[in-house]
Amino acid sequence: MADTGVSTESFAAEKKQEFQGKKLRMAIIGCGGISETQIRALGAIPEVELVAGADLKPDRLEVMKSRYGLKALYRDYHRMLKEVRPDAVTVCTPNGVHAPATIAALQAGAHVITEKPMAMNPRQCQAMIDAAKKARRKLCVGFQYRYHPATQMLRRARDAGMFGRIMFVKCLALRRRGIPNWGVFGQKRLQGGGPMIDIGVHVLEMAHYVMGSPKPIAATGKVWTYLGNQPSSVVSAWPNWDWKTYTVEDLAVGHIRFDTGAVLQIESSFAAHIERDQWNFTLVGEKGGCTWDPPTIFTDQAGTMTNTTAAFLPKGDFAVLFEMKLRNFVDACLYHKPLEAPGEAGIAVQKIIDGVYRASQANREVTIN
Ligand SMILES: NC(=O)c1ccc[n+]([C@@H]2O[C@H](COP(=O)([O-])OP(=O)(O)OC[C@H]3O[C@@H](n4cnc5c(N)ncnc54)[C@H](O)[C@@H]3O)[C@@H](O)[C@H]2O)c1
Repeated sequence: MADTGVSTESFAAEKKQEFQGKKLRMAIIGCGGISETQIRALGAIPEVELVAGADLKPDRLEVMKSRYGLKALYRDYHRMLKEVRPDAVTVCTPNGVHAPATIAALQAGAHVITEKPMAMNPRQCQAMIDAAKKARRKLCVGFQYRYHPATQMLRRARDAGMFGRIMFVKCLALRRRGIPNWGVFGQKRLQGGGPMIDIGVHVLEMAHYVMGSPKPIAATGKVWTYLGNQPSSVVSAWPNWDWKTYTVEDLAVGHIRFDTGAVLQIESSFAAHIERDQWNFTLVGEKGGCTWDPPTIFTDQAGTMTNTTAAFLPKGDFAVLFEMKLRNFVDACLYHKPLEAPGEAGIAVQKIIDGVYRASQANREVTIN
C-alpha cells in the first residue's frame, strides 16, 4: 500500500497534536486551469498554506502571482522541490508529467496528490506507488467523483447487499463535439490517449468504486480517430481545437472482464455522431440494479418492481467535490486518516484504460495482469 502511515487512533491523535497551529505547506506543479479550481478549494481548508508553484510557462506563473498572491514561483519543479521543501505537492500538469513530477516530489519528502488520470499507463502508476512506499509518503489520486453523493449512495447500497452479485455495468462518457481547445489534450505523446483516458476515467473510477473495486482480468475494445484530426466548420462549444497536432482517438469502446465474473462496457468520445452528450453508468446485479443519474436503485419489493430514489442527497457540484478530495488528502497527510483514492485505486482504473487501448491495437482480447 502507498498509504504507509500508521493508522491507529492514538497515532492519529498524536499527529493532530503535533500539527496543531502548524500548516501543511503545499506546492503546485502545473499552474494551469485545474490548479485554479484546486486553489479555490484549498482556500476552504485552514490547515493548508500554499507556498509555491512551478510551471513551464511564465504567463501561468504571473497568474499565480497576481491572482493568488503566490510568491515562490519556479519554471523548474526540481528546483522548487529542493529550495522550498514542501510538505505536500499537488500535481496538475498534463498526464505525461504526472509520474515524473510525483516521483520527484515523493523523493523530496513530500506527500502527493496527482490529478486524474493517475499517469499515462500502469507501468508509470506502479513506479509512483513504489516511490511512495519507499519514501513512506502518501500518494493520492484526484478522483473527485467517488465523493459525489450519488456515488456514495450507490456504494452504500452495494455494501448493504442490495445489488447482490454484480453482472453488468455500462459506463458512458460521451461528448457529441467536445474536443478540448486548450492544453495538450489532443496529443497522445503527452496525454497517453483521448476521451478514454481523459473523461472515460471519471465514469470508470466511480463505477469501479461502486462495484467494490474488483480486479480487471481481460479487455477487448476499439478506438477510432476520424474527426479531431481534420479542420471542422461545425458550430460547437469548443471550436478551433488544434487539429494539426491531434493524435488521440475521437471514440473508444471497451469491454472489461473482472475476476468476479462481472463485465463492464465503456463508451467514451470527444466527438461522435450521437444524439447528445451522456455522463452516466448503469449497473445490473442479481438482486438489484442502479443508475447514477438520476441516482436510482431498481429492485423487486413485495411483488412490485420498484425504483428507489433518495428523499435527500447533498448537492455534488464540482467545487464541493474538489474540496472533499483535497480535504481527504490533507486529513491523510496531517492526521493519518485513510485515503479514499490511494495509488492502488488509480492503477486499477489505469489497467482498464490500458487494456482497451492495447486490445484496440492488437485487434483481439488482451489479458490484464
Ligand atoms: N479532476 C478533474 O475533473 C480535472 C479537470 C480538468 C483537468 N484535469 C487534469 O488536470 C491536468 C491538467 O489539466 P488542465 O486542464 O489544468 O491543463 P492546462 O493545460 O490548463 O494546465 C497544465 C499546466 O501544466 C504546465 N506544465 C506542463 N509541463 C510541465 C512541467 N514539466 N513542469 C511544470 N508545469 C508543466 C503547463 O504549462 C500548463 O500550464 C490533466 O492531467 C487533466 O487530466 C482534471
